Amino acid sequence: METPLDDQESLGVGLKPGDAHYRAYVGPPEDYDLIAAMTFNLLTTLGLRQDHSLLDVGCGSLRIGRLLIPYLNRGKYFGVEPNEWLVQEGIKWELGEALVQTKRPTFFFSDSPETIAQTKVSFDFALAQSLFSHCGLDLIKNWLSAISRSLAEDGALIATFLPGKEDSPREGWVYPECVSYRPLTVRCLAAEAGLRCELLDWKHPKEKWLLFAAPKFDSGWFKDKPLTWNARLEKALGKKNEGNLPSAAAAIPADVSHKEGHVYDQDGLRSIHNHEFMDDPAFRKAYERGVRAAGDDYRWHWRVHVGLWAAACAARLEGDFVECGVNRGFLCSAIMEYLDWDSLGKQFYLLDTFRGLDERFLSEEDKVVSGAVEKNTLNLASGAYVQGIEEVQANFSQWKNVSLIEGPIPETLPQVRANKIAYLHLDMNCSPPEVAAIRFFWECLVPGAFVLLDDYAYYGYFSQKSAMDRFAQEKGINILSLPTGQGLLVKPVDVR
Ligand SMILES: C[S@@+](CC[C@H](N)C(=O)[O-])C[C@H]1O[C@@H](n2cnc3c(N)ncnc32)[C@H](O)[C@@H]1O
Repeated sequence: METPLDDQESLGVGLKPGDAHYRAYVGPPEDYDLIAAMTFNLLTTLGLRQDHSLLDVGCGSLRIGRLLIPYLNRGKYFGVEPNEWLVQEGIKWELGEALVQTKRPTFFFSDSPETIAQTKVSFDFALAQSLFSHCGLDLIKNWLSAISRSLAEDGALIATFLPGKEDSPREGWVYPECVSYRPLTVRCLAAEAGLRCELLDWKHPKEKWLLFAAPKFDSGWFKDKPLTWNARLEKALGKKNEGNLPSAAAAIPADVSHKEGHVYDQDGLRSIHNHEFMDDPAFRKAYERGVRAAGDDYRWHWRVHVGLWAAACAARLEGDFVECGVNRGFLCSAIMEYLDWDSLGKQFYLLDTFRGLDERFLSEEDKVVSGAVEKNTLNLASGAYVQGIEEVQANFSQWKNVSLIEGPIPETLPQVRANKIAYLHLDMNCSPPEVAAIRFFWECLVPGAFVLLDDYAYYGYFSQKSAMDRFAQEKGINILSLPTGQGLLVKPVDVR
C-alpha cells in the first residue's frame, strides 16, 4: 500500500479508485473532500445534532468520519469497516490520535451486517455512502435488515445507490466495479425491512441519495419542497418558539385553530395570512371525503380550498365538469361531497390511465427538467399512484352522475360526451397530455369556465408551466400563478 511520507501530505491525486492508497481506495481522490462535505451537509440538514448516535457503515479511511467524529459528542460515532488499514491510515493522516482519545469513536473491523447488533445502541442516524453501489441484492437486504433493527423509531439511514433499468445479478461484495438496481427493487427491500424509502433531492457526483426512514422519522417538512439548510433551521427554531405563541392563539381550541395569527405551513406554502376556511364545517367534511378517497391526508388544504372555490363558481354556469389525472380522486371526491354532486344534474368526467404516466406522452422537458420518468416510477412503486381502475371504482359508487374513463390521454379524450364544460381540472404531472386536453376542450369551455392547473407553479414541475404558458400566449391570455403551486385560468368571454 502507498503511504505518504511523514513530511508531506500525499493526497493520492492521479490514482484510480480502488488503488492501494487510503484516499484512492475509497473513490476518486480528487473528490475526497467533496464527498465529505456533501454527506456532512446532508446529515446536518436532515437534523443530525451533537447528541445523536451515528453508525457509519463502510467508514473506510474516515473520509466523512473525520468531520463527524469531532462534531458528535464523545462516544457517539460508530464505524464498521472490514479493511482495518483504511481506518488506521485515516486516523494517522486525517483525524489524528488526539481526537480519537478525546471523542472515543468505536470501530468494528468486520464485513458482517450482524456486527452492528453488538453495539446495543439505538442509532439516530446511519450512513452508507457508496456501499450499496458495491453490494449484491443479498447483501443490501442483510444490511437493511440489520440497520433497521438498530435504528431508533425516529431514526433514519441515508445511503447512495446507482439507479438502473435492470437489477444486477451479482452477489456479495463487488469492488471496485459498481452495480445498479431498479429503484422499485430497492424500495421493496426497504419495505421488507420496515423502512420508508424516499429519493432525496441532494446531488451526488455519480449516484443518488436515498432516505430509509424508520416509522417516526419526520421527512414531511421537505416533502415536495427543497431540502435546504434554511428550511431545516426554520423548522428547528419553529419548534423552540412553539412555547411563545401569542396567548390568543394558544387559547384557540385544537380543532378550530386556523384563525388570525396561525401559521399555515404545509405543501410547500408557509403563510401567516388568514386560512380559517380550514375550520368551516363544509370544507372539513369535503376535505375528509377527499382523504377517504385517497387513503391518505396529503395536507394540501389550501389547494383543496382553491379547487372547491373554483368548482362552486363553475357549478353556477352551464356545463359539465372534467378532470384529467384523477388517481384515487382526492380533489374530485372533495368537490362532489361539497356540491352534493348528484343534485346538480351535471356529469363529472374523470379521465386517467389509472396506472401512472404513459411515457409515450412525455416531453423532453418533462423528462429532463421535471424528472417525470423517475417520479412516475417512484409513485407507482410506493403505491402513491393506483395500479388499476378497480382500485378506485368503489370510491365513486356513491354518485350516479360520474363517468370514469380509463386509458391514456390524448387517446381517450373523444370519449367525453360533453358539449359544454364549466370546470376543467388538469393534474397529470406531465405536459403533452395536459396541453392536448385543454386544446381538445377549449371550444366546449363556456365563457367564464374555470380551468385549474394543479402543477402549474408547483416546485419541480416547471415543464408543465412552460408548456401551458405557450398555449396561453397563443390564445392571448395569462394564467394566474397561485402560491399553492396551482395555476388558474378563467376563459374570457371574448376569446375563442
Ligand atoms: C397527481 S395524480 C392526480 C391526483 C388527483 N388529481 C387527485 O386529486 O388525487 C396524476 C395522475 O395523472 C395520471 N396520468 C398521467 N399521464 C396521463 C395520461 N397521459 N393519460 C391519463 N392519465 C394520466 C396518472 O395516472 C396519475 O393518476
